[in-house]
Amino acid sequence: MDREKPHLGTVQETLLIPLYARAVENGREQPLLRDTRAEEIVAALDYDFARFDELPSLTGTLLRARLFDRWVSDFLSTHPGGTVVEIGTGLNTRYERVDNGRARWFELDLPDVIDLRGRFFTDTPRRTTIAGSVTDGAWVEAVASQAADGPHLFVAEAVLPYLDAADVHRVVDLLADRFPGSLLALDTAGPGFFDTQEQHDALSKVTARMRWYCPDPAHLAGWLPGTEVLASHTLTSLPEPLLAELPLPYQQMIADLAVQQLPQVEGYHLNILHLP
Ligand SMILES: C[S@@+](CC[C@H](N)C(=O)[O-])C[C@H]1O[C@@H](n2cnc3c(N)ncnc32)[C@H](O)[C@@H]1O
Repeated sequence: MDREKPHLGTVQETLLIPLYARAVENGREQPLLRDTRAEEIVAALDYDFARFDELPSLTGTLLRARLFDRWVSDFLSTHPGGTVVEIGTGLNTRYERVDNGRARWFELDLPDVIDLRGRFFTDTPRRTTIAGSVTDGAWVEAVASQAADGPHLFVAEAVLPYLDAADVHRVVDLLADRFPGSLLALDTAGPGFFDTQEQHDALSKVTARMRWYCPDPAHLAGWLPGTEVLASHTLTSLPEPLLAELPLPYQQMIADLAVQQLPQVEGYHLNILHLP
């Protein structure tokens, strides 16, 4: 079969990094996660993935995916019929990994990504893709018109740091306004991580750069009165129950990393907010 060249904009290209991480991991004996679909997609795309081979940060993207998967699973065990909205979904396979057979899913990304995604994934009555920018309120109305009741969990994994701060504020305002009481999972790039992105092993291989600098995720609670930061983790301070589930070599790797307290690791946070 002829492989397909992905025609993606600058920030959109970054989706190929976590995709490749999941594809490679799928081939390991003791993986952080299984993702056969990612392996198939990588094989179908004509792209120089070798540039990402053996990069340490690929493991970081997998640990992040595991924590975000867990937050979605926790949400669905409390709210089996709830709504999950993947913001900047890329070619992610979270639905394949954690869907419970009842929840309502929306997967939003820019039009060129949704076009590519359409070659590999199909909508169903419970699963809807939306083409558009997260900064444009139209998608919010699309979700509200099809799944008004909620509760809603919005998952923005490795997306918001690529927007500028004013746009991130706008997104949070939009969500709190239209879906009060919803949850938002997001990552933040702070000191040591944001300012070393030119040297970042994977980002330095693509053109996109992060624009939103968040010095401390605790500050997010001050954006809108009533916002709560329910949890905030670094890759070296993952929740104990998640850590205990990881293959032992990864637990050891994280313990070694924690001792080093590297600014480029400790400056990156995975957070979940309860919006007012
Ligand atoms: C690093 S990728 C992460 C993809 C996916 N969340 C994952 O973890 O595999 C960043 C994603 O954010 C999307 N993105 C960036 N800016 C966006 C915007 N304004 N609206 C919607 N999606 C956006 C990109 O197209 C890309 O798919």
